[in-house]
Amino acid sequence: MENLSAVILAAGEGIRMNSTLPKVLHKIGNQPLLGNVLDNVRAAGISDIFIITGYKAEFVEAYVADRARCVRQKELLGTADAVWQIKNEFIAKSSNARLLVINGDTPLISVLTIKNIIEKSLQSNSASTLLTAKIKNPFGYGRIVRNVSGNIVKIVEENDADVYQKAIEEINAGLYLFKVGELFAAIEKIRQDNQKKEYYLTDVIEKMRGKNLSIDTIEAQDVNEIIGINSRKGLSEAYNVLKQRVIDEVVKGGVTVLDPQTTYIAENVKIGKDTIIYPLTIIDSDVFIGENCSIGPFCHVRSGCRIENDVSVGNFVEINRSHIGKFTRLKHQSYIGDTIIKGNVNIGAGTIVANYDGKNKHKTLIDKGAFIGSGTILVAPVKIGKEAVTGAGAVVTKNSDVPDKTVVVGVPAKEIKKKRVS
Ligand code: UD1
Ligand code: CA
Repeated sequence: MENLSAVILAAGEGIRMNSTLPKVLHKIGNQPLLGNVLDNVRAAGISDIFIITGYKAEFVEAYVADRARCVRQKELLGTADAVWQIKNEFIAKSSNARLLVINGDTPLISVLTIKNIIEKSLQSNSASTLLTAKIKNPFGYGRIVRNVSGNIVKIVEENDADVYQKAIEEINAGLYLFKVGELFAAIEKIRQDNQKKEYYLTDVIEKMRGKNLSIDTIEAQDVNEIIGINSRKGLSEAYNVLKQRVIDEVVKGGVTVLDPQTTYIAENVKIGKDTIIYPLTIIDSDVFIGENCSIGPFCHVRSGCRIENDVSVGNFVEINRSHIGKFTRLKHQSYIGDTIIKGNVNIGAGTIVANYDGKNKHKTLIDKGAFIGSGTILVAPVKIGKEAVTGAGAVVTKNSDVPDKTVVVGVPAKEIKKKRVS
């Protein structure tokens, strides 16, 4: 979008996280808080993005890499000072230029909400548009102070609020859209006249009001969106919201999730219709599961797995970087790693693919219609032929490929009979 830039404030230490990691690098779901915010801003159509770094800046910058322009805030003097760091970038820009400002610790503010604030700002042409929310427990957030006509006059931070202001349930969510000329003129007037002795970005509202500039607000549709993460407790609250959002999407697509509370599905997972997910199941990122599958209970599908239609994955099964073909059954207590399993395979209880030799990971292929007996260990790299059989407790050692329709048993596994009798 032309004339529209964004800045993500990510310089803070996050003292209340009680961590050596900068707050914005703490993970929620697949990625750090900052990654969620960055993705959402970009998905809303903004490509000119700055990130203000400060505390352990080199870590944050290494994470961001070339996805945005990082600018360092030398001293953490507050959110207004953070925005001030990019002032020079806008000197040459036209007076129509707008800047979206978002806190780096609000990963749940949705793409739709960011689009809405952009649209509202373009329509109203206000100096400032901000996102507010009405919440039952406003503790810790800046309170929106309005006059009798309902117009916003200022934002008061928790530490500076009097008892009446503390009772205000409308809060500042930490997402703003400003006209840049008005914004930097207002920041210049801000002083550290508050309990924390910081330059508060939120003070621009009072300064703009003093100049009779128009300011408007949009209200968050979903109050969960605005959670600002300041502590570990906030991190788990936000994670639960994110988790529920993902499950809602999956369910809309025709999947049954029997127990959302104990089911964890990463954001980019795709699951086909009429698949059932049983309780206590974890599905990591970059997983595809087809239609009509049965997954869980107590099962972990790790990153990079592709499971085709009509597959059954049961109790205590872990699958990692593997491809499972149609109608295959892995129902009990197995580990399958770096493996391609073709269609119609039966994996007996307790089968383990030993894919790691202490140095490297190796691949395994189990071809169509194979029958892997209970307690088999397949030492990778190894291939099991079409319709081949391994006996219970067999250890198929590395590179001892089993030909099609062959039956092997024992430790190490030896062929007992050519051609499987089916
Ligand atoms: C801020 C708002 C508050 C709002 C809340 C929403 C201010 C003064 N207050 O409060 O009104 O309700 O967010 O979540 O803005 N940061 C910097 N440099 C600094 C200080 C902070 O980059 O010098 C960054 C932090 O890394 C963080 C963001 O700005 O990502 C917000 O700072 P934080 O200290 O979390 O502000 P809150 O007290 O939550
Ligand atoms: Ca915060």
